Amino acid sequence: MVELAVGLGTLAPAHIAALTGGRSIERIVYSAEEIAARVRSLGDEITRAYEGEDDLLVLGLLKGSFIFLSDLVRCISRPVQVDFLVASSYGAGTTSSGQVELLYQPAAPLTGRNVILVEDIVDSGNTLNRMMEALDAHGLKSLEICALLHKHIASDLAREARWVGFDAPRDFLVGYGLDPAEDFRHLPFIASLSEQDQG
Ligand code: IMP
Ligand code: MG
Repeated sequence: MVELAVGLGTLAPAHIAALTGGRSIERIVYSAEEIAARVRSLGDEITRAYEGEDDLLVLGLLKGSFIFLSDLVRCISRPVQVDFLVASSYGAGTTSSGQVELLYQPAAPLTGRNVILVEDIVDSGNTLNRMMEALDAHGLKSLEICALLHKHIASDLAREARWVGFDAPRDFLVGYGLDPAEDFRHLPFIASLSEQDQG
């Protein structure tokens, strides 16, 4: 069987077709192995950055960050608490609506805490700006952003991400948590979607 080379590893086309139900993906942009290596070094950098600090709260911005967050926190070698924020901006489509709704904020007090906001991808930056507003209101001790992917399109970001997994191409990306209308979140790699398959 022909093996498709993906980064440091290989995935059989039949395996990819089984995962996607036969819907075509344009190309694999980051393999599972490349992602794992990058997440490990982000975890190391974060561990070092908070040396000497008592407190660290990692807030995952759902839903897109759920896989990245769960891998990342297991690569942070220090005590850490985990909670979530839920925001919704895209609805079912693949272009940003510009409307960012904050659907859930952590019940735990945030005042005086070191917080890292973990985001799947920074695209227009609307979501991040809205989250900054919501979190800044709590009087945190520190707030940093860790984004798995950054498209570097946003021109008016209230704050830049301190940690970025990958500077991403401007394609619509799927997998490893990222979705069009809830599909493809489970892919272990990140792929760009073919035109005809964009919701
Ligand atoms: P922004 O508000 O335009 O920066 O978009 C942020 C949110 O939109 C992300 O947290 C994702 O959930 C979603 N998003 C943006 N670009 C993509 C993409 O290429 N694939 C999947 N989701 C995306
Ligand atoms: Mg989404």
